[in-house]
Amino acid sequence: MSLADKLAARQIKDLIPYQSARRIGGIGNSYLNANESPYPAYEMPEKETWQRYPDFLPGDLVTKYGLYAHTQSDNVLTTRGADEGIDLLIRAFCEPKQDSIVISPPTYAMYGFIAEAHQVEIQNVPLIAPEFSLDLNSFKSIKKNPKLVFLCHPNNPTGNLLKRSDVVSIADHFKDEAFVVIDEAYIEFTPNESFALDINKVPNLVILRTLSKAFSLAPGSHRFCVSAA
Ligand SMILES: Cc1ncc(COP(=O)(O)O)c(C=O)c1O
Repeated sequence: MSLADKLAARQIKDLIPYQSARRIGGIGNSYLNANESPYPAYEMPEKETWQRYPDFLPGDLVTKYGLYAHTQSDNVLTTRGADEGIDLLIRAFCEPKQDSIVISPPTYAMYGFIAEAHQVEIQNVPLIAPEFSLDLNSFKSIKKNPKLVFLCHPNNPTGNLLKRSDVVSIADHFKDEAFVVIDEAYIEFTPNESFALDINKVPNLVILRTLSKAFSLAPGSHRFCVSAA
């Protein structure tokens, strides 16, 4: 059983997946079961098909992002922004009033907001001032097993970069118990390598990336990269 299957929240395991008309497939031009118009919208450029629902996992995009991030395309999942990726991870793996996530404040506030919205407990392991370094010992003495550990690389708001040895050590500590999620929303602004290069070696690593910062594509073209555990 994969780690994702093992950690998935009960309500997610019990779900019978929705099969959209796009996923069921079919041939032709009129997909009544997709509730799409068979006619192009007024003044749509020739050959464009904006009236169609997009693919569940757009193959072209996933392949190209995989090439860009130096990882196989089947490690890539697309979402509308890294924030939706954070939300998806918390909903997929955490059961309300039962599970927890770990964050290291000061850090990006959205991990905490989304956890609270889903009634998921937040365990804080604050960064150590004045350098804002990770408190490795406190990570290892966490009593209640979290499902997700969020680390930000470079960290918003301190700008600190993560050491590879620290990430490997935290991932190893939570091996088989939790995913370590590295938020690399600002990775393109550093000379450091992305941890996306490690996802095949460290099985409980998940990397969040986005096109909203370095590519200025905030209005709706954000992308999310996740390890296939
Ligand atoms: C650290 C960090 N992660 C994720 C996000 C959200 O990214 P997106 O615009 O792709 O939702 C932000 C946005 O400010 C951020 O600062």
